Amino acid sequence: MKKTAFITGAAQRVGKAIAEHLSSQGWNIAIHYNRSSTDADILVKILREKYPLQKFATFGANLMNDSQTENLIRLVIAEMGRLDLLINNASVFDPGTIRETSPSFFDEQFGVNLRAPFILTRQFALNCDKGMIINFTDTRITNNTSGFAAYSLAKKALWELTKMAAFELGPTFRVNAIAPGLTLPPADKNDEYLRKLAVQIPMKRPGGLDPILKSVDYIITNDYLTGQILFCDGGENLGKRV
Ligand SMILES: NC(=O)c1ccc[n+]([C@@H]2O[C@H](COP(=O)([O-])OP(=O)(O)OC[C@H]3O[C@@H](n4cnc5c(N)ncnc54)[C@H](OP(=O)(O)O)[C@@H]3O)[C@@H](O)[C@H]2O)c1
Repeated sequence: MKKTAFITGAAQRVGKAIAEHLSSQGWNIAIHYNRSSTDADILVKILREKYPLQKFATFGANLMNDSQTENLIRLVIAEMGRLDLLINNASVFDPGTIRETSPSFFDEQFGVNLRAPFILTRQFALNCDKGMIINFTDTRITNNTSGFAAYSLAKKALWELTKMAAFELGPTFRVNAIAPGLTLPPADKNDEYLRKLAVQIPMKRPGGLDPILKSVDYIITNDYLTGQILFCDGGENLGKRV
């Protein structure tokens, strides 16, 4: 039976690109969505037409809801027959300094960006005897800017979870992280926005999706790699020029 990847937030943007990429390599894909049910259905239809011998299915869940999140892994295994790779990609990315961050806003940023990946990791480990996990964190974890205080703290903690899970769940599970930098502009911004920001980073250009897809491939194929982070950020983690 073909291997199955479960990707959270896979109806659009980075998650969708990974779903398309892994499909082209023969994987069965379980596509998670929250609000983007139409996009998820369209993606599944396209993938089924392109790869008729592979299995594709959608799974809706609000990752702020514990019971919906807890059930996801069992539902994926029941529908797809097996689970080999969990990609914690879904995210909320909202601005707010420490002064501006209310407890409920904090909980939302931590809920989707840390608590849900924790619950899914736990369920994967409880329901399967081996597997791989890739957690999407952010190059922002390397600095202390607070414009996205709760988001940044949640992504810092997700990197810590990556290492802790790699330690506890090895050798049967490998757990690694990808830290993107300037990849895709936020929904309300265009490519020019990223190009302007890129003058401050060593590679002086946004990376797009390619470095992320190559890093996913590297993590999957390197079977001695665990507890590691790959920065797909053109060197942004080294610091920004002023
Ligand atoms: N884009 C970048 O340049 C960049 C830079 C650094 C790090 N990253 C990281 O890379 C990953 C992918 O980035 P992206 O820009 O593609 O992500 P995104 O578009 O911001 O979010 C991906 C998906 O997360 C899902 N999501 C949000 N809230 C949810 C909830 N309550 N329950 C379930 N799903 C929820 C949404 O699914 P629905 O649409 O179905 O609601 C959304 O489509 C993220 O983890 C992000 O932090 C990205």
